[in-house]
Amino acid sequence: MSVGEALPHESAALHVTGQALYTDDLVHRTRRVLHAHPVCSPHAHARVLRLDPAAALEVPGVVRVLTADDVPGTNDAGVKHDEPLFPEIVMFVGHAVCWVLGETLEAARLGAAAVEVDYEPLPSIVALTEAIEAESFQGGQPVVTRGDVELGLAGATHVFSGTTEMAGQEHFYLETHASLALVDEGGQVFVHSSTQHPTETQEIVAHVLGRQSHEVTVQCLRMGGGFGGKEMQPHGFAAVAALGATLTGRPVRLRLDRTHDMTMTGKRHGFHAQWRVGFDDDGKLTALEATLTSDGGWSLDLSEPVLARALCHVDNAYWIPHVRVAGRVAHTHKTSQTAFRGFGGPQGMLVIEDVLGRCAPLLGLDPVELRRRNFYVDGQATPYGQVVRHPERVVAAWEQVLETGDVARRRREVADFNAAHEHAKRALAVTPLKFGISFNFTAFNQAGALVHVYKDGSVLINHGGTEMGQGLHTKMLQVAATGLGVPMERVRLAPTRTDKVPNTSATAASSSADLNGGAVKDACDQILARLREVDAGRGLPWDELVREAYFGRVQLWAAGFYRTEGIHWDSAMMQGHPFKYFAYGVAAAEVEVDGFTGTYTTRRVDIVQDAGDSLSPLVDLGQVEGGFVQGMGWLTLEDLRWDESDGKGRGRLTTQSASTYKLPSLSELPDELNVALLEHAHEDGVVHGSKAVGEPPLMLAFSVREALREAAAAFGPPGISVDLPSPATPEAVFWAVERARTSGEHHLAVGLPGVVPDRKDPDAPSLHPASEQPATAPTGA
Ligand code: MTE
Ligand code: MOS
Repeated sequence: MSVGEALPHESAALHVTGQALYTDDLVHRTRRVLHAHPVCSPHAHARVLRLDPAAALEVPGVVRVLTADDVPGTNDAGVKHDEPLFPEIVMFVGHAVCWVLGETLEAARLGAAAVEVDYEPLPSIVALTEAIEAESFQGGQPVVTRGDVELGLAGATHVFSGTTEMAGQEHFYLETHASLALVDEGGQVFVHSSTQHPTETQEIVAHVLGRQSHEVTVQCLRMGGGFGGKEMQPHGFAAVAALGATLTGRPVRLRLDRTHDMTMTGKRHGFHAQWRVGFDDDGKLTALEATLTSDGGWSLDLSEPVLARALCHVDNAYWIPHVRVAGRVAHTHKTSQTAFRGFGGPQGMLVIEDVLGRCAPLLGLDPVELRRRNFYVDGQATPYGQVVRHPERVVAAWEQVLETGDVARRRREVADFNAAHEHAKRALAVTPLKFGISFNFTAFNQAGALVHVYKDGSVLINHGGTEMGQGLHTKMLQVAATGLGVPMERVRLAPTRTDKVPNTSATAASSSADLNGGAVKDACDQILARLREVDAGRGLPWDELVREAYFGRVQLWAAGFYRTEGIHWDSAMMQGHPFKYFAYGVAAAEVEVDGFTGTYTTRRVDIVQDAGDSLSPLVDLGQVEGGFVQGMGWLTLEDLRWDESDGKGRGRLTTQSASTYKLPSLSELPDELNVALLEHAHEDGVVHGSKAVGEPPLMLAFSVREALREAAAAFGPPGISVDLPSPATPEAVFWAVERARTSGEHHLAVGLPGVVPDRKDPDAPSLHPASEQPATAPTGA
């Protein structure tokens, strides 16, 4: 029995000893490699008037300069055909206008510096708010509606409105983007690429080269992290390497250094949300009206599906009878923002969690109680029409966290601590999680696998998913071992390649174990059925059975296929049943904030995550811990800053490396982190009853943000509502504390744009309309 066993990651030993091979490691095993270096735009938006590579070709070691004239196929790297690979108009600072190939990386770099480019600067839009003001949008503008929000708001006892803004996030995978392209004697192209979506990389490479897909093979050994950043962004880099290889006949390596990776590639979308919300007498949500605008950057990339997922997650785990949520993608002169763990879900959910966190004090309700009161119950459906199956699991996880986290007692201790300390305050917040599993885009919910049983009884599996550290390969080995009834040592897994399993979907949406697991199991089932016939009830040992089957001319290998049943999605109406199921979780976080500096520590976090019948509990535990910490980073530390001034550096990402972009490190981790997987959580219709776990835990980090809000509020008079920017950096928390402290008893809502009561409830404490809000303090964020 292997499925369900707590095994280490299949490459753990290789990872920690430095022996695991990543794409760029292959360079040292490849002869006559050329190195590629970009020439990057210093302007946020400009027309290329002249591009002269002559001086670069004089630099010793420079072999060739790749420009638009070299492209035999289509000069575009975008799936939406809006990303010229060699642009005439540059759209962001860092946009590559051409690539230089050199015998060494240094030669290529010096060559790139020698290329002469003249630009005519054009007007640019950098900040998201600038884009909203200028109505600079791209792509569709979907709306999710149910009921009648005006009716819902009219029937509410309390109506509030406000604005919620959140920053994006840099993926900061340890392995930056990398490709190594080779051509064989027949001109066939082989690209090693650090890509979550080998099939799409193959398609874009073929497109740029003007070739058919069967002439291009893409392989991904493994990634040193992808986190969504390698779902669509690798294609252009692979195409440049492939172009170089076909033109020179030599292998071409393209690997971004950290600063290039940060300045050239997309990040999590920052969002701006404007909302109105209604609550009844009991604090139950009656209506939510919101407009969400994401910062898409210069091209669409995955912005539309990311937005769709954001709209489909504004409800999080809460029943809201009347809903109207509209979405737009802003067009700005920045990197093209892209998938990032949660894929818009976190941004959508942050809106409702922000709303609840800000409104709870105004409703006179404990936030724990307010959240609990609004949970979905059996039979209720999401705003897009999907019935929420197993909502009782959120309740089970919630109760388990309250109990094992000893939350009631600890909240009393927090109150005692706060009463005794003037300059330090603690808070403990609890937040739930509901995350839809499956690609919104129905066609992507399919997968293939190839399982070979060799004559000696050993097994080799291929499947369409890629490994980025999340443990997919470990799970697939377990599924194959269990599926054929052989020990793990008899099964080996070969690297992901488009010539083994074609037409694959991105390894994304946390669905890869469900999809590829289904395909691997299907292949194993086919082989097993044939072997059972050979065995005919004799119970032969595996090796003997396999040998006998071979000599009996029975096929010992199979291609497996899986498609998720029962899902459908109408993207025009934004209605349907897009998700196979929901992943659930709950987290309780306790923080302590220092009133002098705004710095804080996360004292303790308790998590219960629903992973179904976990395929691989140790792997899943790692996913929960890693996802949670990455979420903490997004919400509390990681501060992307772009130069929005009108100066020379306009549009420049000023946080270009680890020295200026603060990532979570050991010192920011919770002092105590307790993770449990929900028990008795078998999920029907998914491989071995398991559930996806890759992205959902990231969103449990809302608990830390809410705890920071409550701790900051504790510096002020009781009952105040405190607004927090996102990320809630120590600096931002300091100003939140300041606002809380300086707010008199009469100021019930203190904050940035502020929560504004729209309609006064005669029984509610008097609240201030927008014009009487306390002046917004400088936030530094
Ligand atoms: N875990 C590690 N270690 N590295 C990663 O890059 N990516 C996350 C998540 N966990 C990632 C990770 C993202 S964005 C997704 S969608 C899932 O893994 C993808 O893998 P899965 O479908 O196998 O869960
Ligand atoms: Mo994950 S953002 O779906 O790659």
